[in-house]
Amino acid sequence: MDPAKLILDGNEYELPVVIGSEGEIGLDITKLRSASGAITLDPGYGGTGSCYSSITYINGEEGILRYRGYPIEQLAEKKRFVEVAYLLIYGDLPNETELDLFRHQLTHHSLIHEDMKKFFEGFPAEAHPMGVLSSMISSLSSYYPDSGNGEDIDLNIIRLLAKAKTIAAFSYKKSIGQPYVYPRNDLSYHADFLHMLYAVPAEEYVPPPAHEEALNMLLILHADHEQNCSTSTVRMVGSSQANLFASISAGVSALWGTLHGGANQKVIQMLQTILDDGADYRKYVDLAKDPNADFRLMGFGHRVYKNFDPRARILKGQADKVLGQMGVEDPLLDIARNLERIALEDDYFIERRLYPNVDFYSGIIYRAMGIPTNMFTVMFALGRLPGWIAQWKEMRDDPHGRIYRPRQIYMGETERSV
Ligand code: SDX
Repeated sequence: MDPAKLILDGNEYELPVVIGSEGEIGLDITKLRSASGAITLDPGYGGTGSCYSSITYINGEEGILRYRGYPIEQLAEKKRFVEVAYLLIYGDLPNETELDLFRHQLTHHSLIHEDMKKFFEGFPAEAHPMGVLSSMISSLSSYYPDSGNGEDIDLNIIRLLAKAKTIAAFSYKKSIGQPYVYPRNDLSYHADFLHMLYAVPAEEYVPPPAHEEALNMLLILHADHEQNCSTSTVRMVGSSQANLFASISAGVSALWGTLHGGANQKVIQMLQTILDDGADYRKYVDLAKDPNADFRLMGFGHRVYKNFDPRARILKGQADKVLGQMGVEDPLLDIARNLERIALEDDYFIERRLYPNVDFYSGIIYRAMGIPTNMFTVMFALGRLPGWIAQWKEMRDDPHGRIYRPRQIYMGETERSV
């Protein structure tokens, strides 16, 4: 495609056009400032691409999500989370030998250093698990310093994937005052995590198959989502050559925000408020439309999806099935469905193309599994871990990679004397 032409102050500048493998069009402005002195401005980066990437493709208009070309619907139905993690990080689904080795490595690196337990003791019981997770992931760099060479990075990727679920489970046990349950080598990734969450010394705990299957689907659905807030944070931090653990720890902190991964916890709290208020969902839809009310329909809307979030569509379809398998009735599911029905018929939401996103139904399934609300965003982070790692690795493997350093338009005082 011919270059785009920009006319600024009577001068004409050519901007090369780049076209992605799915036909996305980008204007390359890398030379614009040196040629014209002008920068572009895009608060919130709604229309700005930060990188080339081959990991995840999203089409917000059509509600498409693919990891390395595979549709999310097929991966969620046919694959295990460990296989999808390998796909995202290394580019292809593992063959049997690769998968066996990957599983073996994840199993045998799941212990954390005994000294790390002292860090848990320093947290108050009411510490939010996301704050604990971010701190503990960063502290891994004290035990496994990054020499920067390839083998160390691959081994640290394994260590992080394997130890994050142990850290998450330990933070939960710490918050409820129960003894830590150590990882077991005879259990799958999901079964081991559920076992560390729910086993108690007094009795044997066998993870229900329905819980294992639901967890597998939820982790896959959360595994990557191209350049969202937390992933861009991981890339930003990693672009300074900060180590893997420091970069991912920053991603956990970004995900914690209620507009991002923290929304799944807020959705359940919102649904409970509506239930307690006589299930008057129309009142809350009207509140969400009122610009003067400090209230949003949590779990609704998305920067990219202007159609159904395919993950929400899958979760909506699975919610009934999974709760049925678990023998759980949850009135919040009815509230959610009615809220969605009313919102999707309302001009305010239609005009703004606001649809349920991944967070709208995920909390209902986590609840049915007995996972406490303040652990929901930790579950999101465990799912997103392979995506963050894949994006960090892609950024670090880029021979032309540069430190991220956006510019600004200064609006402050001009020079003045003290
Ligand atoms: C995730 O980016 C990703 O890919 C994220 C994610 C991932 O997998 O990494 O998909 C995960 O973070 C999902 C989103 C979870 N957050 C929520 O559910 C919180 C509620 N949603 C919103 O706050 C909002 O929709 C965002 C944050 C998701 C998107 O914000 P944008 O793109 O900046 O949109 P906006 O705030 O500019 O809103 C546009 C309009 C505004 O109205 P007007 O000023 O034009 O009149 O839509 C309105 C907003 O007021 N609006 C909502 C709304 N979301 C947007 N109104 C009511 N309820 C909402 N939920």
